[in-house]
Amino acid sequence: MADFAPESVRPARVAGVRLAVGRTGDVLFALDGICPHAGAVLGDGSVDDGLLLCPVHAYTFDVASGRCDEDPSCHLRSYPVEVRDGVVGVRLGGE
Ligand code: FES
Repeated sequence: MADFAPESVRPARVAGVRLAVGRTGDVLFALDGICPHAGAVLGDGSVDDGLLLCPVHAYTFDVASGRCDEDPSCHLRSYPVEVRDGVVGVRLGGE
């Protein structure tokens, strides 16, 4: 958790799956890492008050649900995140 500054996101790859992993407030999140709109790397975006901002066309995604208000067809999967012994883990099997 200490590795993630508040309101931050970065690209990650877990078992070959590209993710955007970040923190908003005291909550860690993991979402699909590639923007379904036009393929941007969402981990290169930014986070503000629970929303992940795509770095290319600025669509916003709710970090908890993956919902995109600009285009509901651009919904992202969200994955459970847990911290164990200071290590951040993402469970890919969850919704
Ligand atoms: S590539 Fe993400 S909003 Fe267009």
